[in-house]
Amino acid sequence: MNILSIETSCDETAISLVQATGDFPEATYTVLGNALFSQIDIHREFGGVFPNVAKREHVKTVIPMLEKALREAEMLQDRAERLPNETFAHLTDMLSHEEGLAEALTAFFQKYEIKGIDLIAVTNGPGLEPALWVGVNFARALASLLHVPVIPTNHMEGHILSSVFDGERLAPLSFPAVSLLISGGHTQLVVSEDWQNYRLLGETRDDAVGEAFDKVARMMGLPYPGGPEISRLAKIGREKDLPEYTELPRPMLHSGDLDFSFSGLKTAVRYAIQDTELDEDQKAALARDFEDVVTEVLLAKTRSAVEEIGAQSLILGGGVTANIHIRASFEKMFGDEVNLYLPNRTLSTDNAIMIALAGHAHANNPENLDSLAADGNRSICA
Ligand code: KG4
Ligand code: ZN
Repeated sequence: MNILSIETSCDETAISLVQATGDFPEATYTVLGNALFSQIDIHREFGGVFPNVAKREHVKTVIPMLEKALREAEMLQDRAERLPNETFAHLTDMLSHEEGLAEALTAFFQKYEIKGIDLIAVTNGPGLEPALWVGVNFARALASLLHVPVIPTNHMEGHILSSVFDGERLAPLSFPAVSLLISGGHTQLVVSEDWQNYRLLGETRDDAVGEAFDKVARMMGLPYPGGPEISRLAKIGREKDLPEYTELPRPMLHSGDLDFSFSGLKTAVRYAIQDTELDEDQKAALARDFEDVVTEVLLAKTRSAVEEIGAQSLILGGGVTANIHIRASFEKMFGDEVNLYLPNRTLSTDNAIMIALAGHAHANNPENLDSLAADGNRSICA
């Protein structure tokens, strides 16, 4: 089965073509085409992601990404004869909120014939709703032209599956599995007893981890997204073994539950640097202090969850898993104790391959095209 997957939940416009041979979760997957456009340079100017800016960029980029992925997969062919205009009449309605997209998609279909797609998977939540809608409406339009079903896919489930994906297969997981999801929008501990059912154990009461990285970076005058910047500076702080810049709080460390909170930590950093011009060493020390505290809290909460559940497997997912110190710390603490899964670093941050995997998991549950909708707050738990 060939899956066309679409991801537009935040600031990456991504489309993949993945061939699945066999049934989920034992299938073998072949990535036939993979296209991704990161809007980071555009959002950097504003210091963060504004949903309507993200939406505008998705509308602009989604067809070039489709073309790139299909070309790579060799699933694109020049069309011999023009199609009647009626074929596309419904697109004006379907894509009425995506300026210019109906026309661009019509032109694309008049030029090319797409062959061999069996299923479309699209992220319909969680994420930025205006951004999600671009992918969802584009999926509806494509599905209506290609006459294939659409699977609305959960972005967080995509992160979990991409973490256990080795480029060809999903790891044969032992359950129960605890997942720690750390991204720009989420910080959650989730447990699953089998592949497709998730139960929430705890989550952040305010900012997500990635958001805290981004906000602290911004306060320190570093560009968006802040995660990689803090991580780079922290590495210097560690290598130079710089003295602690400031003592930071370990939020919720002893709260007795599995919830997180990062906004107090962010405020503590704000006070610590207020009215100060930090030199390079101070920045490196502070970045390291911040990364240490975040890591300590993530480790402690995950330890409680793993013990409470008696977890056989521990899965880390989401963009923050690109952080080298966090990866190494989890490997050190849990590597010998449970089956630990971290995403290949190229699959840490948002991509469409993870959406193809999550789509395949629910391939038997397509959504009616008329009721397919974006849900910015979609939860991973049924
Ligand atoms: O999963 P993701 O690509 O998008 C969301 O679903 O939110 O995660 C993006 C987040 C951003 O907040 C970014 O700063 C963070 O992941 N991130 C990192 C690193 N690389 C990306 N955070 C810490 N260290 C990194 N190396
Ligand atoms: Zn994500």
